[in-house]
Amino acid sequence: MLVAVLVAASWAAAGCGARRATVGDPERGRSLLAQYQCGGCHRIPGVAAARGTAGPTLERFADRQYIAGHVPHTRVSLERWIRDPQAVVADTPMPDLGVSPRDARDMAAYLRSGP
Ligand code: HEC
Repeated sequence: MLVAVLVAASWAAAGCGARRATVGDPERGRSLLAQYQCGGCHRIPGVAAARGTAGPTLERFADRQYIAGHVPHTRVSLERWIRDPQAVVADTPMPDLGVSPRDARDMAAYLRSGP
């Protein structure tokens, strides 16, 4: 029992399971997700009218291990995906919306903040 408590405490101290450190501006990202109309295809908590079902839900994306089922999820891979999904998975149906690197960084920051 004590061991379990100590293990849990050291995990928490190491940041495991906690929110990841934020790069980018998640609040700006939240408005960009609405502006680019990502919600036409995705469910995104906290983003107005984001209730689309053509794509998978982006709820709790911070906890997601993979993008598109098999690409390991990191901050960098997620930003790349948002900028140019076909560069990550050539035959993905997600469209290239011409997102700038800065906008992709901020949208990824919002999705990775755990909404
Ligand atoms: C026309 C519909 C459409 C739009 C608009 C769209 N997406 Fe997608 N998105 C998809 C589809 C379909 C997938 C699943 C792709 C796959 O598995 O290959 C996807 C997958 C994703 C994933 C990975 C989800 C997962 O569970 O693996 C993320 C993250 C994502 N989209 C973010 C965005 C963002 C951010 C925008 C706005 C800039 C956006 N999408 C706009 C259709 C869309």
